[in-house]
Order: sequence, then structure tokens, then C-alpha cells
Amino acid sequence: MDSLAQDLKLALDRVSFAKRLGLEPDPWQEDLLRSTSERVLLNCCRQSGKSTMTGVIALRRALYHPGSLILCLAPALRQSQELFGKVLGFYRDLGRPVSPQGERKLSLDLENGSRIVTLPGSEKTIRGFSGTSLLVLDEAARVEDELYFAVRPMLAVSGGALMMLTTPYGKRGVFYEAWSGGQGWERYEVPASRCPRISEEFLEEERASLPPFIFRQEYQCSFEETEDQVFTTDLIDRAVTDEVQPLFGTGG
Ligand SMILES: Nc1ncnc2c1ncn2[C@@H]1O[C@H](COP(=O)(O)OP(=O)(O)OP(=O)(O)O)[C@@H](O)[C@H]1O
Ligand SMILES: [Mg+2]
Repeated sequence: MDSLAQDLKLALDRVSFAKRLGLEPDPWQEDLLRSTSERVLLNCCRQSGKSTMTGVIALRRALYHPGSLILCLAPALRQSQELFGKVLGFYRDLGRPVSPQGERKLSLDLENGSRIVTLPGSEKTIRGFSGTSLLVLDEAARVEDELYFAVRPMLAVSGGALMMLTTPYGKRGVFYEAWSGGQGWERYEVPASRCPRISEEFLEEERASLPPFIFRQEYQCSFEETEDQVFTTDLIDRAVTDEVQPLFGTGG
């Protein structure tokens, strides 16, 4: 195939684009890549490839739809940056097919007018973007409601797409609400049993090592009732923070 035909095929086909990046999409990933939905929810187990696939979709949009503004957002800047890092890595792997105007730690500006921007997970600092063509919310089950309410209007005038991806985190929050009852969403549920890179043996080891509700949450796409837990996940998270001094001496 000559390079123009190759370019055209990539422009039309997100699956070919992913393959060009060295990824052989899993069946659910292929469905996602072929989807034209503008409202997508991914309820996927850990390490299933949800950030990777979203990164592929974000980069392809930036390259083939000039003038696109793509925002990567997560509860914490570190997590948004991880997603952006995947996009940047793919862009470099492809040999920068559209020239960069600015290639920074938190954003990529392309010569075709497209921009990919990493946002910190704080409602106060993210206002002011408009004309967004794709908004990606990674770790969406842990995004504060206020943050979600602050970003949604960024899609208002542009009619941009919204993708929310996550592993579940209890029956609460905007992702859970959308997943369990929201209208107009295309939903993908991907437990570890559908991820060919997670072995049976590893899963058994995890099952034996984790509290059952954590195992169900991390690997089986389950939004766990907090009431059947003695300690909620929130409490456990807070209990293991290293920002708080222990009440009792640690022997020192
Ligand atoms: N189709 C695929 N072929 C090969 N490797 C893949 C594929 N999809 C994902 N991976 C690899 O699987 C690993 C996990 O991917 P990724 O970080 O996207 O998962 P995730 O679901 O976002 O995980 P986490 O819940 O930890 O954020 C990465 O090393 C990624 O390159
Ligand atoms: Mg991820």
C-alpha cells in the first residue's frame, strides 16, 4: 500500500491506527475503537487497557481532526499526567506525524491547530476551556462531583465527546450515577476474565490476598455496597495516608 493510501486508511479506521502503534486490540477494545458514540462509559478492571485505548482515541482525534481541543482529567494531576504520557509516547512512536508547535510536560500543541491538555484535578483551576472536542475523565469513579459539574459545560457549545473510564469505587459519585441510570451512554463492562493479559493464576493469588469486596471491585467491575463493609474504602484509604502522624509512638 502506498503511503497516501496508508494515511487514508489510518484516518478512517481507529483499529488500524491502534495496530500501527503495536497494539492488537482485545475484542472489547476493538468495539470501542469502532464506536462512534459521543458518550462512553468504561467500567473496567485494573490494568485492562482502558487508559491505553483512550490515549489511542485522543491522539488519533488530534492528528486527524485539525483544531481539536482534547482535555485529559483525573482526580489528581499525577493520574491525568499518566494518561497524557501515553498519548505523548504514542505520538513519539509514530514519529510525530503532525509537527509539534509545543511539546511540554502537560500539553501538546500541534501544527494543525489541535491541542491535548492535561488538567489538574481541582475544580478551581480548570475553568476557562471552551470548544472542547473530547473530554476524557480517567479514574472517573473517584472524581469529585464538583469537578465533574465544572467540566461538563466545556462541551456545551462545541458538542464535544465525553469518555469516562474507571474501575468502580463504591455506589456513589457521578460515574456510578451515570453507569447505573444515566441516559444516552454507551457502556463497556470489562472484568479481568475478559483481559487476556491477566492470568488465572494471578487472579487466584489476588483473590487469596485481598478482602473479597476489594477483589470484586478491582477485578470484577463491582460497585460495592459500603454497608457490608466494616470499614469503608474511604476510611481505609484515609487510615493508610502517611500525611497523618500516628497517635502512638512507633517505637522511636
Ligand atoms: N491490546 C493490548 N495489547 C497489548 N498490551 C496492552 C493492550 N491493552 C493494554 N495493554 C497494556 O496493558 C497495560 C495496562 O494498560 P493501561 O494502563 O491502559 O490499563 P488501565 O486499565 O488504565 O490500568 P489501571 O487501572 O491500573 O489504570 C499497559 O502496559 C498497556 O500497554
Ligand atoms: Mg489507567
